[in-house]
Amino acid sequence: MSQAFPSPSSVYQYPRYYAIGYQWNTEAECDFLEACVSNFTRLKLPATRSQSGRPNPAFLDIGCGSGRHLLEMARRGYPVTGLDLRPEMVDFVKREAAKMKRPVTVSVGDLREMSLTGTFDIAACLMDTFRFLLTNEQIVRHLRHVGEHLNPGGLYVADFWIPTKWDQLANEIYQWEQTAEDTTVRVFYLQHPESIDPISQTFEDELVFVVNEGGESKEIHGERTRTRLIMPQEFRALVESSGMFEVVGTFAEFDLQKPLKPACLSWRMISVLQKRPAP
Ligand SMILES: C[S@@+](CC[C@H](N)C(=O)[O-])C[C@H]1O[C@@H](n2cnc3c(N)ncnc32)[C@H](O)[C@@H]1O
Repeated sequence: MSQAFPSPSSVYQYPRYYAIGYQWNTEAECDFLEACVSNFTRLKLPATRSQSGRPNPAFLDIGCGSGRHLLEMARRGYPVTGLDLRPEMVDFVKREAAKMKRPVTVSVGDLREMSLTGTFDIAACLMDTFRFLLTNEQIVRHLRHVGEHLNPGGLYVADFWIPTKWDQLANEIYQWEQTAEDTTVRVFYLQHPESIDPISQTFEDELVFVVNEGGESKEIHGERTRTRLIMPQEFRALVESSGMFEVVGTFAEFDLQKPLKPACLSWRMISVLQKRPAP
């Protein structure tokens, strides 16, 4: 793990609360990943494969958090590998995988300085994790590294916040609530516009969990964390300059029928990148 960079928000020290707070759309997001495999590659999904031939497509989750996609994709038959900067998240995923009795490879790792081993068919960096890459150099280096570890025609799905209005840049607040058993987690995602650095295009954001567990309430405040604003055309240019990928689609939701357009602009841009053939 790199010491040169700050740690991510301390809310990520609470993987169980994270897992509850972010559970709402996991199956649909995994359906989307599978739809990408079917739509953009010739690979067969585990559910439709005959028993012979190639192994099932291999999935890599970068910044996997509590492993909600990793565990669901493992359940669907994919060989899965994840990395996350927070050891608490990695330990949580290992425990959940052991309960499921599914093979899951997960380790502590930094998306800014990855040293992957192995090759994959579909990689993903979901729920805004990509914006921890703060500079153009970090983004391009990261894309090249992921691309080098994808099989020919492999996909990389990157999902991150984009502003819905230019006069509200980095001034958005989202909140939602999820419950599992005796625990309710209300998640607040807050952006701090006064922290904007217009040259580096970074600003600070913050996560707060308000937890009610068995009738007892507590608030967990993550530190403000500096993240990068990446505009859609800029992302396209950075992908081009990596030389590794072609952008094969950008979507407003986890739905191939909902491409990102002004009429259906959403707070997130889900980009599907496909590895270019070697020159
Ligand atoms: C918003 S969560 C997203 C988790 C997961 N992708 C999901 O969709 O639920 C961000 C995750 O990125 C991790 N993270 C933050 N900085 C990172 C870095 N530099 N390298 C790897 N993981 C990082 C955090 O520990 C946290 O688990």
